[in-house]
Amino acid sequence: MQATTLGRGGPAVSRAGLGLMGMSWLYGQADDDESIATIRAAIDAGITLLDTGDFYGMGHNEMLLARALQPVPRDSVFIQVKFGGQRDPAGNFVGYDASPAAVKTSLAYSLRRLGTDYVDLYQPARLDPTVPIEETVGAIGELADAGYVRYIGLSEMGAETIRRANAARPVTALQIEYSLMSRGIEAQILPAVRELGMGVTAYGVLSRGLLNPATARPGGPGDQRGRFPRFRGENLTRNLALVNALDEVARQKGVTAAQLAFAWVCSRGTDIVPLIGTKRRDRLAEAVAGLDLTLSPDELAAIEAAVPAGAVAGERYDQRQLQDLDSERSG
Ligand SMILES: NC(=O)c1ccc[n+]([C@@H]2O[C@H](COP(=O)([O-])OP(=O)(O)OC[C@H]3O[C@@H](n4cnc5c(N)ncnc54)[C@H](OP(=O)(O)O)[C@@H]3O)[C@@H](O)[C@H]2O)c1
Repeated sequence: MQATTLGRGGPAVSRAGLGLMGMSWLYGQADDDESIATIRAAIDAGITLLDTGDFYGMGHNEMLLARALQPVPRDSVFIQVKFGGQRDPAGNFVGYDASPAAVKTSLAYSLRRLGTDYVDLYQPARLDPTVPIEETVGAIGELADAGYVRYIGLSEMGAETIRRANAARPVTALQIEYSLMSRGIEAQILPAVRELGMGVTAYGVLSRGLLNPATARPGGPGDQRGRFPRFRGENLTRNLALVNALDEVARQKGVTAAQLAFAWVCSRGTDIVPLIGTKRRDRLAEAVAGLDLTLSPDELAAIEAAVPAGAVAGERYDQRQLQDLDSERSG
């Protein structure tokens, strides 16, 4: 596994990270033993960056990570945590809170669940429209001053908010969706992040499994992907045609479509750290193999002809969720 830094002069991390969300929520039934084996296999493969959120399974994800890390030296991994999503006991989202008090309370509970006394990077999952971003990162900064947090991150925020946040406290990385099917950050957000010397942790590299023919159709217990516009009706039909075209390019190279999707994100710059979002060891191995692929100019052109920028059918979130995305408003 190659290494990179998260932003200019930032912390050293592995070339790709492991995203743990699907181990607790959204992408079908997970098996805790297989999830733990996947986290440990990722670490064995050289992955150091582990991405979780306190609302992923309402604490389950963090407690699962704590179990997986029991035999692992704390300083050998880079744990990043998202916070802010508020949920009721039934699991419904009931709001968003990134006020200073919520920042501090949320971190305190995360540290307990994770069984650690610091997190490496702490990031609000969304912009709280009722709280100036300066106050949110200011509160994280106070936690950093006290040694509970090492670096500050942001998630799904637009260029203007990113600049304001970074002016208040140095921000190390932005987490945002980026893939062959989601290239919206290229216009304004990525140039701003690069100008400021931040890194990117890219999620949705497979557009939630769409870019692997084996997982492109939602279904099965606990698989809630059917709620996303790209997986619905005519959109899905059109998107499957793009996936099949990518699969054809992959076959000619003797690799898989998912591997090309990871290799393509890697080809966009070492400042972009793709997150691998699987809960299974076999798919982890598939993704990791894709990180090392070298793509020739002809191969890059063939990939982009198979899945042209802007060709995807459907937004990346439904209309209500899009309203929560500062990145879509001001990006
Ligand atoms: N900041 C945010 O707003 C935000 C939003 C979403 C996610 N995230 C983070 O990003 C991480 C990545 O999640 P994602 O949805 O963005 O990931 P993704 O890679 O776009 O999709 C993951 C889905 O693809 C499937 N898959 C099929 N082949 C795969 C392969 N070879 N490697 C990996 N997955 C494969 C997985 O199924 P199996 O698990 O069955 O293999 C899973 O259902 C999450 O775990 C989370 O940490 C952040």
